[in-house]
Amino acid sequence: MRVPLIVRSEEVQASPFRPSAPDFLTLGVETSCDDTALCVLAGGRRVLASVLSSQVRDHAPFGGVIPELASRKHQEAFLPLLEEVLRRAEVRNPSRELDLVAVTMGPGLMGSLIVGVMGAKALAQAWELPLVGVNHLEGHLFANVVAHEDLVFPFLALIVSGGHTEIILARAPGDYALLGATRDDAAGEAYDKVAKLLGMGYPGGPEVDRLARRGDPLRFPFPTPMASSDEISFSFSGLKTAVLWETRRWAAAGKDLPREDLCASFQRAVVDSLMAKVRLAVKRTGVRRVTLSGGVGANSALRRAMESERSFRSYVPPLELCTDNAVMIAAAGYAAYRRGYRCDLTLSPDPVLPLTPRHQE
Ligand code: KG4
Ligand code: ZN
Repeated sequence: MRVPLIVRSEEVQASPFRPSAPDFLTLGVETSCDDTALCVLAGGRRVLASVLSSQVRDHAPFGGVIPELASRKHQEAFLPLLEEVLRRAEVRNPSRELDLVAVTMGPGLMGSLIVGVMGAKALAQAWELPLVGVNHLEGHLFANVVAHEDLVFPFLALIVSGGHTEIILARAPGDYALLGATRDDAAGEAYDKVAKLLGMGYPGGPEVDRLARRGDPLRFPFPTPMASSDEISFSFSGLKTAVLWETRRWAAAGKDLPREDLCASFQRAVVDSLMAKVRLAVKRTGVRRVTLSGGVGANSALRRAMESERSFRSYVPPLELCTDNAVMIAAAGYAAYRRGYRCDLTLSPDPVLPLTPRHQE
């Protein structure tokens, strides 16, 4: 079976496109992990309505996302959210007013992706609309295209979330190269694991960030991960283990752990590592525009470091576009559609979908 992929722009035939692009309405669907999100996007960046149902509370008692539960919660949320987003966007007759359905097809949790992809396929068929499958990471890139009118290709993208830590070179819409990724834990995963060690709830990133703001980042001399390597890659599991040993050391000594200093020192090491590899990518490619996205993009120290950087121009989107959302999927889908990309009803989710199209590998 042919797996539909986002293909390079120069390899697709020019396709007819409605001239009234600002009125082109895309229904975006995102269900790759634990957020059910839908939106209606007009043209490339005007959000008519965007709705999201977070499952954070459902998964919190388990300390992480439970795939089976995530899938069921997406099913419960999908139709009520669809009604809500259409109502808010004032779309009364979807088959006549909408122009495209764009859905995340991977990477992500299979049981979660299936709900969105099957839902989107059913809607596209019932409403006789074209359908495009979107790579979730391409979506994260487009969060910044939506947020920043002055962002032009090529640019570098730092994507940091619970499942990803990647630096991507976006040469042109649909033409991407993965420059580097994490060898083990994603940055958000490291935050969540450190939070768990300190007895905090899930997801722990925001709480670690909050404590870190009041702590001394130099109190614990955690080394910057991968500092001595000239590779564009990350590793956070050693840092997490170093935090674990510190907690044990303080417990064995019967002393109260200075949690704020520990969080601040951990955060300093993470942010220094991310920034060092971004600078390396800037140096290697000569590309001086860098975008930030993914849930860890909400981190106060990382946002500050990006915004105050002098060796490149940074693009930091608002928080609601950093974390998973349907607007970024609709925007990426709309751009792919304009490049002539289409999917048919054989579209199926791929939990490990690479950003680089397979025929380029
Ligand atoms: O992109 P996202 O909402 O979901 C996916 O993982 O796809 O990212 C969630 C991750 C979690 O690991 C969470 O702990 C982390 O982002 N996070 C943060 C902050 N806010 C969310 N990490 C550090 N500082 C924050 N302020
Ligand atoms: Zn994501």
